[in-house]
Formats: sequence, structure tokens, C-alpha cells
Amino acid sequence: MKTRILPVSRDSILEACKILQQGDLVAFPTETVYGLGGLGLRSESIRKIFEAKGRPSTDPLILHLPSPNLTKAVESRVIGGPVSEFADILAARFWPGPLTMILPRGSAIPREVTAGLDTVAVRYPAHPATRELLTELQEPLAGPSANRFGRISPTDARAVLQELDGKIPLILDGGDCSTGIESTVISLWGSTPTILRPGAISAADISQAIDRNVVTLTTSLDEETPAISPGSLTSHYAPQTPLYISSQPIECFDPPYQYILFTSKNPNLLPHVRILTKEGKAEVAAQNLYRILRETDSLGAPAILVDPIPDSPLAPALSDRITRASSGTAEWRNGGWTFKARTKI
Ligand code: TXA
Ligand code: MG
Repeated sequence: MKTRILPVSRDSILEACKILQQGDLVAFPTETVYGLGGLGLRSESIRKIFEAKGRPSTDPLILHLPSPNLTKAVESRVIGGPVSEFADILAARFWPGPLTMILPRGSAIPREVTAGLDTVAVRYPAHPATRELLTELQEPLAGPSANRFGRISPTDARAVLQELDGKIPLILDGGDCSTGIESTVISLWGSTPTILRPGAISAADISQAIDRNVVTLTTSLDEETPAISPGSLTSHYAPQTPLYISSQPIECFDPPYQYILFTSKNPNLLPHVRILTKEGKAEVAAQNLYRILRETDSLGAPAILVDPIPDSPLAPALSDRITRASSGTAEWRNGGWTFKARTKI
């Protein structure tokens, strides 16, 4: 199959809509990362998503809603009612935007979407092109990140092509993603709101909005701990080059920068350095993280080293992604790097 890339326009959105309605897949931009879209209410489209990504059928998908109105989503049996009061508050506060809520599954949702769970993940994205596409479709669009399973999420159309060339007919090119890392996932299923995946909307933001404590599920570093979120595999978002998190700041500049990622044929010689943000802004680091990881990964170096993540509201999300991408830690000792592999991956 030939994969076409079309810049976002009225015509390309209508074309995407037509392809989706025929049961095929289209990659689309969102503010977080690119998604691999298929009609959320059609089992055949859902099966194609799992196949194109090589994703295990046990890992449920996010549905992008055609409107932020949760009452409508209940009426159309996308989510099951009654909806938690927190969900309405969070939708009003953070939608459109990078927040995914886990709510009771509605009876219209095929089992394949939720991997058999009684809950469904929903979000209303901020990217104007995605919203136009959703308005045109008037039904939920299933959309995992548009990468092959276990690999780095794409944040531009070229990266999607690298991942899915020949597997899908169309990529809608809406430019670079502005957030750069996947949405915050919060479960409103149990009695305590629980963050299953940290993102740009922080636990503090959510806690303040609902005036309640929010628990964050910490990254499970072993596979024996049952995952509450089936997709929270430890090893995820991984580059092919082993990545190590430095246990002390990497000092190759004076004055020093933060948010450094570097690699080299020989890590003890002059490194290939990439700085995620020269201004020290966590938002810019997040925006650049996956693109720079992808570029660095293509150099064929033996290892990638990453600076410790400085404190910021985005630190939990950045640390989560980098830890999952990592093979272990690195320490500068006696004039050389010592690498320590993570015991369980
Ligand atoms: O920013 C994003 O959320 C992007 C864009 C494209 O919207 N999408 C995305 O989808 O990151 P994906 O499939 O790569 O990640 C969805 C995560 C997975 O970890 C999955 O296991 C979890 O959400 N998830 C989905 N449904 C769930 C459910 N019912 N209960 C718990 N976790 C769920
Ligand atoms: Mg993903």
C-alpha cells in the first residue's frame, strides 16, 4: 500500500473522513503526538489498528470524542452513565486538551477497543485539524499513538511515515505537535482519582480542579506487578540504542545547560550533544524529546546518555517517558562512564 502525506486542509480532512468511513486508517495530528485513527465503533477498523501497530490485543485504545459534552457521550452509549461529577469538572476545565479520562464503558463500544475492560479511555483533543475531522465524522475516533508497538511516539508526519510506511493509506500533516508527549491518563473508575500516565496536565492541576487528592500510579519497574493500566509496560517508548540516565548532571558546557541528551561512538570522547531546551524550559524539552530521541537513535551509536531531569511541573511526565525508554543508569567514575543495567525490563 502506498502511504500518502497530505497537509491539513479542508480537502484533505474530507478525504481522511472518506477513508475512515470506508473502514481504513488515517494518521492524524494532535497536540500531544500523532494518532493512528480508525472508527471507534467499528470492530474491523479497530482490528486494523492493532495489526498496523503490532500492538497486543490486551492493550486498550483511547477514543477521541466528537464533542466535549459527556452527556452526549452517555446518550450515544460511548460511555456508561452516570458519569462521575469529577469527569464533568475536568472536561470543563481541561478539554479540549491533553487529558484522557477512564470512565465506564458504554454499550456501543466494541470489546476490542477496551481489550475487554469495563472502562473506556476518552479525550477531546485540542488540535484544530483533529477537531475538524471529528466534527465531520460525528463519531469517536480510536487513536493510539501512530508508532509501531513499543517504539517512540511520532511528533511529526515524517516520523509517522518512518513508523507506518506502506501500512496505512494517509497521513494528515498538521505540523509539529505542540505538547510533544502523550496525554495525562486519569482513572475516575475507583473511589480515588488515579493518574495512570503522567502528562502535561499535572496531578497538582487536577487535584486543584476537583479539590481532591489525586494518586499517581508510579511506574512499575517489574513485570510481575500487575498493571492497572494494561499499556503501562515498563519498557515502552524505547529507542533501539540503549539509553542510560546519568546519575549526575552531565557537565560538558560552561555555563552548564540542563536537559541534555547525548551520544557518541565512544562516550568518553567528544560527544554528539543535543540539548532539549537551551532556555531550560520543561515545556520545550517535552516538545523536543521524541524528535531528538528519534534523531539520536538513528546515529548508530552504542549508547545514549540523558541528563537527570530537573524539577518542574512536567518532571513526572518527562521522567516517566525517559525511564521507560531507558536500559539503566550511568555514572561518571574515575574518568569514564560506568553503566548499570536495570535488572528487570
Ligand atoms: O496523547 C495521547 O493520548 C495520544 C494521542 C494520539 O491522543 N494517544 C495515546 O494512545 O497515547 P496510546 O494508545 O498510545 O496510549 C493509551 C494509553 C495506554 O497506556 C492504554 O493502556 C491506556 O491508555 N488505556 C486505554 N484504555 C484504558 C482503560 N480502559 N483503562 C486503563 N488504561 C487504558
Ligand atoms: Mg502509545
